[in-house]
Amino acid sequence: MEKSDINKIEDRVRKYQSEHLSTRRLKHIEGVIDTAVLLADRYGADRNKAALAALCHDMFKERDLDDLVREYGLSDKYLGSNNLAHGKIAAEYMKHELGITDDDILNAVSYHTTGRAGMSLLEKIIFMADTIEPQRDYPGVEEVRELTFKDLDAACALSCERTLEIVEKKGFPVDSDTKEAKGYFDKLISERSANGGKMDSREMAVMAAETLDIKKGDDVVIIDVAEKSGFTDYLVVATGGSERQTIALSEAVEDKFEEYGIVPRGTEGKNGSGWILSDYGDIVVNVFTEAMRNKYNIEKIWADCETVGFNKIED
Ligand SMILES: [Fe+2]
Ligand SMILES: [Fe+2]
Repeated sequence: MEKSDINKIEDRVRKYQSEHLSTRRLKHIEGVIDTAVLLADRYGADRNKAALAALCHDMFKERDLDDLVREYGLSDKYLGSNNLAHGKIAAEYMKHELGITDDDILNAVSYHTTGRAGMSLLEKIIFMADTIEPQRDYPGVEEVRELTFKDLDAACALSCERTLEIVEKKGFPVDSDTKEAKGYFDKLISERSANGGKMDSREMAVMAAETLDIKKGDDVVIIDVAEKSGFTDYLVVATGGSERQTIALSEAVEDKFEEYGIVPRGTEGKNGSGWILSDYGDIVVNVFTEAMRNKYNIEKIWADCETVGFNKIED
């Protein structure tokens, strides 16, 4: 989506909100935008998508939605429940009226109240930004804020638990998505600690590749060399547009792994050689300048090995 299109959408949403939402709500939304952008930077997500989802997430929070629930053909369970319906309606409106087609943005808005199992990074960011933005002042918010910037999954687990408690206390219907999200995050956390906090090598390779892709590395590939190589399981390869970008890319992967307590055994090539190699044991990350990528042609050397897919962001 063009930046000018995004600006037009933002202007339209802000105008609508200034006419339909209380000052308190508008302040909350600005807080969620700021927090979502900080979290996007922290975890390597797209800050424009995070800002747009945050801007729209509560646009229908202060009106009766039954007419729109019917108009968009949503389930009857949303009738009479603004709390459950406002995210769903906002997502429908964004798709049909604002022409936003990016499913990740739409899902982040749609599930911001309930959460769900298998949430994407952007969904988790909006879910948590809504919970910890600066205006929030429930008991314990400071701890939740700190945890959100340290361990997003653990923060989501905690937040789902809190949501279930509050919903039950207030006598609202408990949404099955929240129950499933709670189960999903609890399982994820317990598996993580069972592995001593470690990811397996394939997860590491995918995480490195996604980070390189988000940070605009070119031609990112994962090569499964486990069968053929005695020294590692996966090679992750990317090209940077300049010497400086190769350093930024390899450092982005380093920062990402640092969140998981993983540090490279060694890094070579930051001295301007055009090839930075970071050895994480089970995976090796190689970031080249274009000239060096062509020269060494790693893919050709490992041509008989399979490559591994990962989620690429849209251009
Ligand atoms: Fe909301
Ligand atoms: Fe909100």
